[in-house]
Amino acid sequence: MTMTQVLCVAGARPNFMKIAPVMAALAETGIAAQLLHTGQHYDAAMSDGFFADLGIPRPDHHLEVGSGSHAVQTAEVMKRFEPVLDSVQPQAVLVVGDVNSTIACALVAAKRGVRVIHVEAGLRSYDRSMPEEINRVLTDQISDLLFTTEKSALANLLREGIDPARVEFVGNVMIDTLYRNLERAVPSSQTLGAALPAYAVLTLHRPSNVDDPATLAALLDVIGEINAVLPVVLPLHPRTRGNIEKFGLTAKLDALRILPPLGYLEMLGLMRDAKLVLTDSGGIQEETTALGVACLTLRDNTERPITLTEGTNTLVGADPAAIRTAFDQLMTDGGRAGCIPEYWDGRAAMRIAHTIKGWLPQPAGVRGS
Ligand code: UD1
Repeated sequence: MTMTQVLCVAGARPNFMKIAPVMAALAETGIAAQLLHTGQHYDAAMSDGFFADLGIPRPDHHLEVGSGSHAVQTAEVMKRFEPVLDSVQPQAVLVVGDVNSTIACALVAAKRGVRVIHVEAGLRSYDRSMPEEINRVLTDQISDLLFTTEKSALANLLREGIDPARVEFVGNVMIDTLYRNLERAVPSSQTLGAALPAYAVLTLHRPSNVDDPATLAALLDVIGEINAVLPVVLPLHPRTRGNIEKFGLTAKLDALRILPPLGYLEMLGLMRDAKLVLTDSGGIQEETTALGVACLTLRDNTERPITLTEGTNTLVGADPAAIRTAFDQLMTDGGRAGCIPEYWDGRAAMRIAHTIKGWLPQPAGVRGS
């Protein structure tokens, strides 16, 4: 039986586009890897479709944890991950991003004495009310090898006492996926059922924006105003849909073009063809920078500052007046052109695989190639 060198973990939608090129690069480099899906996201639209679209190998292990409070979800992943880790006995566990599955599996591995590799390390919003920020800080503290997407991440890690010898700047694996799939992106006319000459795409799911009825209502009101100028297309996240229904805000969606959560290739085409993207997502700030599409981020901070300094992103927060002003400004001047950040070149996953190959202990009987 071949020894598994790296056990890779993916759990939620934003993980899948990151794990896809990593799995491919590990295979290409001759590293024996297995894939584990925690099942944090489980709907076909939030999970299975991404495996098919992105050619991610079928997971070798599926924990099927599903939803729950943060404590329940994290604990379930930990409980179910430990026996799998014990049976696979990999040389390292590789986690990506900042979701609950990331910290849960990293923590189990670290306590079992298995090396942890973190892809997309060192990003910081310095906002501890974001669950993802807690996941980032803790995962980095217990990781043995940390791969960063932008240079600011190293400064964040140094501030937290991380040994720089463990950190390598490799670029952005999510952008590897974007370049690899751009030609296959589904044209927006197909996703929308008709060609729209100009439109904005909105994504909204952060607890800070969608869990409070007054905040969510005010956001939907200003989006309604924007929609009167530029049609707004909203692929609706299950968390947001649930809250809109619970808070009795469904009527505020009437004038918008509402879509279900989209597959990767549909979303890519929709963003590429958009005049503007409004979002509270982390990854979309980076994808719009790579696409050269203007992005207004409906948050007060970002853990991805290079999208502001070099990309097309502008932070506008959740204040309706500020959003309206930024929108009007953008309609007048078209927004910043931006440029592609260093190493967002489609080769980040190969850099990662080569480093891992040199870093892992050679399994018995295997000679260096
Ligand atoms: C999670 C991640 C967040 C990421 C987001 C993208 C954490 C802490 N958060 O947040 O970083 O940006 O995913 O989607 O890990 N649900 C479904 N179907 C699914 C998955 C979830 O209906 O396939 C529902 C759940 O029942 C729950 C809600 O959506 O009510 C939220 O899901 P959850 O995974 O808890 O967190 P997200 O808000 O999606």
